[in-house]
Amino acid sequence: MDEHAKRFAIHDVTPAQAAQLAEFGARTFYESFADDNTADDMRAHLESAWSPEKQLAELRNPDIETFVIADDAGRWLGFAQLRANKVSEGVPALGSIELWRFYVDKPFHGKGIAGALMDGAKDRARRRGATSLWLGVWERNERAKAFYARHGFSRVGRQVFVVGSDPQTDHVMLCRLA
Ligand SMILES: CC(C)(COP(=O)(O)OP(=O)(O)OC[C@H]1O[C@@H](n2cnc3c(N)ncnc32)[C@H](O)[C@@H]1OP(=O)(O)O)[C@@H](O)C(=O)NCCC(=O)NCCS
Repeated sequence: MDEHAKRFAIHDVTPAQAAQLAEFGARTFYESFADDNTADDMRAHLESAWSPEKQLAELRNPDIETFVIADDAGRWLGFAQLRANKVSEGVPALGSIELWRFYVDKPFHGKGIAGALMDGAKDRARRRGATSLWLGVWERNERAKAFYARHGFSRVGRQVFVVGSDPQTDHVMLCRLA
């Protein structure tokens, strides 16, 4: 972990930060996947998922928990969202919670930030009483799949994730929480 990465903390995102979350989420999604999707699909997806109003509704939803990892100047380095009451193929119906979104800003990839954010996600899932954490990851997202495997996730199923007009296959991965 580099010097920068030692000076961070995990914070809840508040409703007052809905617009900042919408901007950060849309930008990190775009930077992660624009090269592998058509411009039309990308535009449609961003419009369907990211706006201050949509994130405000998420931040007010008790089933969704949204948190960021920020440096000591308050700059967001990454964010994650847990979503309760959803399961997918291979996921136990009882005691599971979804790691719905998990994004680290590109300059901070490979610096240990994602690992700290994952530890925070697992702590929060345990606090909600979960015994397993699950997620869907695009089958072509090799970096994320390797990261999740190193953090205790293994593949249990598949699901479809539609980006614009493109139905993509996600691997469903599950981690048992000790
Ligand atoms: C996924 C993400 C959170 C991982 O964080 P990170 O800091 O990049 O992760 P790390 O560098 O610790 O680990 C990545 C692993 O992938 C490996 N890797 C990198 N590029 C790879 C590639 N093209 N193919 C296979 N493995 C790759 C790295 O070597 C590393 O594995 P190792 O630790 O066993 O050597 C981060 O890359 C990210 O936010 N990506 C964009 C958004 C995203 O894809 N989110 C997940 C949505 S499900």
